[in-house]
Amino acid sequence: MAGRIPQDFIDDLVQRVDIVEIVGSRVQLKKAGREYKACCPFHDEKSPSFTVSPDKGFYHCFGCGAHGTAVGFLMEYERLEFVDAIEDLAHHLGLKVPRDEQAKESTPLAPLYELLGKAAAFYTQALREDSKAISYLKSRGLDGETALSFGLGYAPAGWDNLLRQFPDNDATRRQLLSAGMVIQRDNGGYYDRFRERIMFPIRDSRGRVIAFGGRVLGSGEPKYLNSPETPTFHKGRELYGLYETREAHRKLECILVVEGYVDVVSLACKGIRNVVATLGTATTPDHLRRLFRATHEVIFCFDGDRAGRDAAWRALQTGLGEIRDGRQLRFLFLPDGEDPDSLVQQEGSEMFLKRLSASMPLSDYLMSHMKEQTDTSNMDGRARLAELVKPLLNKLPQGVYREMLTERLAEEVGLKRNLLEPVLAEPADTRPALRRSATTSRSSGLRGTLVKQAIALLLHYPSQASKANHPAGLPQATQRGVSLILELLEIARQHPNITTAILLERFRDRPEKPHLEQLLGEEMLVTEQLAAQVLADNLTRIVSDAKRIRLEELVEKMTGGSLSADEKAEFLQLQKIEPNLGNPA
Ligand code: CTP
Ligand code: MN
Repeated sequence: MAGRIPQDFIDDLVQRVDIVEIVGSRVQLKKAGREYKACCPFHDEKSPSFTVSPDKGFYHCFGCGAHGTAVGFLMEYERLEFVDAIEDLAHHLGLKVPRDEQAKESTPLAPLYELLGKAAAFYTQALREDSKAISYLKSRGLDGETALSFGLGYAPAGWDNLLRQFPDNDATRRQLLSAGMVIQRDNGGYYDRFRERIMFPIRDSRGRVIAFGGRVLGSGEPKYLNSPETPTFHKGRELYGLYETREAHRKLECILVVEGYVDVVSLACKGIRNVVATLGTATTPDHLRRLFRATHEVIFCFDGDRAGRDAAWRALQTGLGEIRDGRQLRFLFLPDGEDPDSLVQQEGSEMFLKRLSASMPLSDYLMSHMKEQTDTSNMDGRARLAELVKPLLNKLPQGVYREMLTERLAEEVGLKRNLLEPVLAEPADTRPALRRSATTSRSSGLRGTLVKQAIALLLHYPSQASKANHPAGLPQATQRGVSLILELLEIARQHPNITTAILLERFRDRPEKPHLEQLLGEEMLVTEQLAAQVLADNLTRIVSDAKRIRLEELVEKMTGGSLSADEKAEFLQLQKIEPNLGNPA
């Protein structure tokens, strides 16, 4: 590997680079106070919710939640890997990226890339000259133009066809060995790893050949042979076809993940060019991060057999950790015995695209898979379902998506959302939790993400945030922490020159103090300028949540008996506000 970039250099770079300049040269920014605004380049919007703060060296979009530093921006916007983003920034500042010497000596990569490129060229030439290989590709329905765009080739029969393309000296042999292209004999000699195989070059994000997969013509074992792990090739990171996919599209609506090389090329032949394959390994978090850098929707496509379904479930579990708001994962299950290649060859691309558009959202797949394992017709089964889903939900980062899935789970287990939350919050092993909490702990503190945010806003920007409109009904909201919000608002409003320090001082001897300090230690992504607006929105949502909770209580009471006249009036009033609620499922 090339030497690591020293952390000092990265820190220094991040500090020196002007994020406004980096973002501003790609996105039209408008100055707004101390910050800059624009329409977010990462999602479609009409009014600008993307802000750049030069003070904090940070950008943040309130619409889609994208945020990060100048490095992160380059990675997202230019779809660069971390190291490439650092290189770009350094270049911009006229700096040369230093590398830690020790690691640098181990294997210089440049000669390996060159050698792999040369091997790929040799294989493509050999394919042109071999009618047997050409007719095999034709028999698989792969056309010449697509084959060319993927750089397909052929490794002829024989032990040293590739070896003979390179100078006959020890240094070169060792490089070929290190690139995984030859195998060393016990007696010290070398022979070609790939023989009599269709060759699929695997390219990195810059289009450099880093490895190969080779398929036998027709039948034979092993069917596929891949390059071993080498300094240029790390299986768990690379995706076959990602470079080609990105070449084919400027903006990618979605990327399809399949299992095989042939699937990728075969779909491309039919005009479906947003397809990648993992290389005989399960999907890794690294894979997903790379994919989500290129698109916001990833569709896994699995064979309908047992192995395919197992792989899908593993992919889902890996996927949960990478889900953020605005990112989508879907699952397409193919009929047993078919793979994407066989299907698209049989049915054509239109039918295949139809299947794609009917693929399962992650939430559907998760719920249906879980429900297969429990009998949800009775309360115990539903409690078990909640327990099963809990560890999965907990893998999801906080955000809209997690909220949505929790909502969904509540529906499935027939529990009101606010009653389910305490169950989800309990550690997994304190069971018969469901029934107990269903009757005792009414409103949990977990609704807290909103409450917590509100408190954090008031702490970070007391003078600004306290200008927020104070929605009617806030004092009546029952969520834990609302009284603290009210108190903070009150202090801030009474104090003309309120600062964070003053506010904290008031809480010196209060039990809440450590929590407040912790909140202050957490990164505040909202800018001061937007604090009041965001807080107002937050408070409105807290109030409407409170109403929903109250409404659900009344519904429950109604199903269990009857309401008093006052409660009936309250119910009707609330239902006007929340028309979708109050219809018992
Ligand atoms: N694979 C592998 N080593 C093997 C078998 C498979 O690395 N011995 C990987 C390859 O990346 C292959 C993928 O798993 O493309 C899927 O394998 P399989 O389903 O067996 O093959 P297909 O892609 O369907 O290939 P074909 O249609 O050419 O038979
Ligand atoms: Mn196949």
